[in-house]
Amino acid sequence: MLVLGIETTCDETACAIVRDGQEILSNVIASQTDLHAQYGGVFPELACRRHIDTIIPVLKEGMGQSKVGLIAVAKGPGLVGALLIGLNTAKALSLAWDCPFVGVNHVEAHLYAAMMGKEIDFPALGIVISGGHTFMARILELGVYEMIGKTADDAVGEAFDKVAVMLGLSYPGGPAVEMLARSGDPKRYTFKAGHVKERPWDFSFSGLKTNVLYTLRDTPIQEEDKPHVAAAFQEAALGNIVEKSLKAAEAFECKTILVGGGVSCNQRLRALFQEKSSLPVVFPAPGLSTDNAAMIAGLGYHVYQRQGGDRLDLEPLITNRVKFTSL
Ligand code: KG4
Ligand code: ZN
Repeated sequence: MLVLGIETTCDETACAIVRDGQEILSNVIASQTDLHAQYGGVFPELACRRHIDTIIPVLKEGMGQSKVGLIAVAKGPGLVGALLIGLNTAKALSLAWDCPFVGVNHVEAHLYAAMMGKEIDFPALGIVISGGHTFMARILELGVYEMIGKTADDAVGEAFDKVAVMLGLSYPGGPAVEMLARSGDPKRYTFKAGHVKERPWDFSFSGLKTNVLYTLRDTPIQEEDKPHVAAAFQEAALGNIVEKSLKAAEAFECKTILVGGGVSCNQRLRALFQEKSSLPVVFPAPGLSTDNAAMIAGLGYHVYQRQGGDRLDLEPLITNRVKFTSL
């Protein structure tokens, strides 16, 4: 079955055609980076206006002459105005083509991106590290998740973006911090990710971010010191994620580690996992780590097989409501 995927949760307008949940026939992503760069983060009203301008051209480019059997759309979590544009487009196409549509959870799709088209040994530890989310879950099978831990404050991608602003780097900050950190020595500064009292599996990055802020404010930093600050921050944030994931995988008897979300692009993170993990660590294919519609179409295929399509009154999800059972 050919599935059309639509993604508009934040600052990417994307559309993809995927066969049977795994074979990607097209994957078009219109990023709004240029629009938000001057604000150092996403400006919601401008994001929505750009989605409106972009969604039809993106659909035309991604679809070509394809005839699809299902429309899958990211229903949230995300910016409500942005979600409504994707959802209403999917509903309109569903009516016009007399084709079923299904709403897909965006963060679950980030987990699916690492599994797409692969044989995975379950139970697996899934980690989503993006600009809006940071959590670990035990995946028993596709669609069955047990929440292990999540961030108590900032998402790790958000911390990268904020530190990038402090260092005078461009938005989105993650790739810029990674690039700067390549020529830095992480040992020149001592930064540490936070610890959440009595919740050992949760994450905390806001203290780390403030640590960087105060260091930049209170010590005489020259331009040539900035790579060291970037490297020390990156090492603290990524080291914390890798260490916690490996401990959780062992404690919850997982056979594989799956990593999704924008921060999973980071080459230093991949090297750290490679170096330290005795379990297979699976990353999304290129183009599937950051927001995209292929992961939405891919997961949508399975959600539809399991529970059928959604009704036209489907509402956007503002907060994350993936069904997680607590361990
Ligand atoms: O998954 P994503 O596209 O959007 C959300 O769902 O949030 O993730 C975007 C986030 C941004 O915070 C961006 O700075 C971060 O992923 N990111 C990175 C890298 N590439 C993107 N962070 C660290 N290193 C990277 N190479
Ligand atoms: Zn995302």
